Amino acid sequence: MNTPNHLVEHNGENTSNHLRHDLVATEPLCLRTRTSSLAVLARSAGSYHYTPEGRRLADFTSGVLVANLGHHPKRWWKRVLQYMALEDAAGDSGYHEAVTLTSYNAATSVEMEANRRLLASLQATPGGKRLEQVLWAASGSEAVQKGLWASLAKRPAGDGIILATRGGFHGKKGLSGAVTGSETDKERDPRVRFISFPKEECRSLEARRQPLDLAPYRAELEALKAEFGDRLCVLITEPYLGGGGSYHPQKEYMQMLAEFCHENDMLFFLDEIQANFGRTGSMYAFSEYGVEPDLVTLGKGLGNGMPVDAVVGRADVFARLGYGEGSDTWSAHPLGCAAVLATLDEFEQEDVIGQGRTLSAAIEECLVKLNELPAILHVRGEGTVWGIECQAVGDLSAEQVAHEIVRLAYLGDEQGRGVHLLGPLAGKVIRVAPPLTMSVAELREYFDVLHGIVARLGQ
Ligand SMILES: Cc1ncc(COP(=O)(O)O)c(C=O)c1O
Repeated sequence: MNTPNHLVEHNGENTSNHLRHDLVATEPLCLRTRTSSLAVLARSAGSYHYTPEGRRLADFTSGVLVANLGHHPKRWWKRVLQYMALEDAAGDSGYHEAVTLTSYNAATSVEMEANRRLLASLQATPGGKRLEQVLWAASGSEAVQKGLWASLAKRPAGDGIILATRGGFHGKKGLSGAVTGSETDKERDPRVRFISFPKEECRSLEARRQPLDLAPYRAELEALKAEFGDRLCVLITEPYLGGGGSYHPQKEYMQMLAEFCHENDMLFFLDEIQANFGRTGSMYAFSEYGVEPDLVTLGKGLGNGMPVDAVVGRADVFARLGYGEGSDTWSAHPLGCAAVLATLDEFEQEDVIGQGRTLSAAIEECLVKLNELPAILHVRGEGTVWGIECQAVGDLSAEQVAHEIVRLAYLGDEQGRGVHLLGPLAGKVIRVAPPLTMSVAELREYFDVLHGIVARLGQ
């Protein structure tokens, strides 16, 4: 068999390389985003992954910001199984008598308990009082799509307009793809208009500390209001541009967007798929920004690794959709709901947020030091979600530097200590988002490894 030119291989990883070959043969390329490491993971526990060759990688990604509590916490799993009535389940004839694995045309007490607990958690958060009902979804894109369907249903089909912040990431499918990116990068949906996001103004930690001149942003919104009037249904944005390159805006920008929506009878829709459950330093990012969203999407850390998502929001908005318009096979699946309950238990009974905040201060310190190296242009972020923007050094472009860091970090130092990183965001931004439960000592140790690797570039 010819070796496809996109196949990633690493010296000395025989088992992993076989698996990578099989992957290329049996799955289309499009299933994964590009990475120079293509980690093969045999097991994970806490803050670490283990390769089939037995190498240990510190996880600076939490999967993809999903395992906020770390990988496979024992108490969390015990609770998931308890909620499913699977721990010590009765039953004979080879079957467990346990919570059913379907939510289609049926309701379970696990689902009702997850609704009740999630809404209580949101409503107890400053800014959460509009969040009245849970519309479950099986992926982040779907949650965004369902929220936008309900938002547009205020107007006759094809008439409503969505505003989205330019350069954002909300998913790839349907309307979630339509509000991702900008007007120039693909065929656009005529229902979507993009507004400016202050990327330059929050490109570095120092820049974000400067007050933002809101006038040009407000003027853009006023111009759209003059053009579309009541056709404007909703404005969707993220607490920070995640997939778009880790840009965390000044609070006043977010507050101005929310204010404009509420003055003009538009919905303020905050996509917290990757920000929720402690990432930004609070349970929900909307409280950090002092805004009151009408709709919020939740995902990733919501189930600590179990695939479960939701859009939560105003009951009158969801009431615009009729029977079945938001239904599908997997939404509100009991296993996902059990994971949400077990994750909420951990956040409510342990000081996970406090741990995340302590870790945040250590990450910032390590990143500021890393920023002194020639390969790094800027570092930025908050809580436990940070970006490292690379720059060209020697013969390498900024993009090549980013890919080289990901690859070398995976391969690790001479003691075999590696760091798992995801493929770069927006071409040249490396994400640092460890589990909130990683210890400061572990973080510092593996930041030293990363520092040594980055220092090699540009020497
Ligand atoms: C803010 C945001 N919204 C939506 C999505 C899409 O989620 P999914 O990949 O589960 O469809 C993502 C995924 O990274 C995201 O970061």
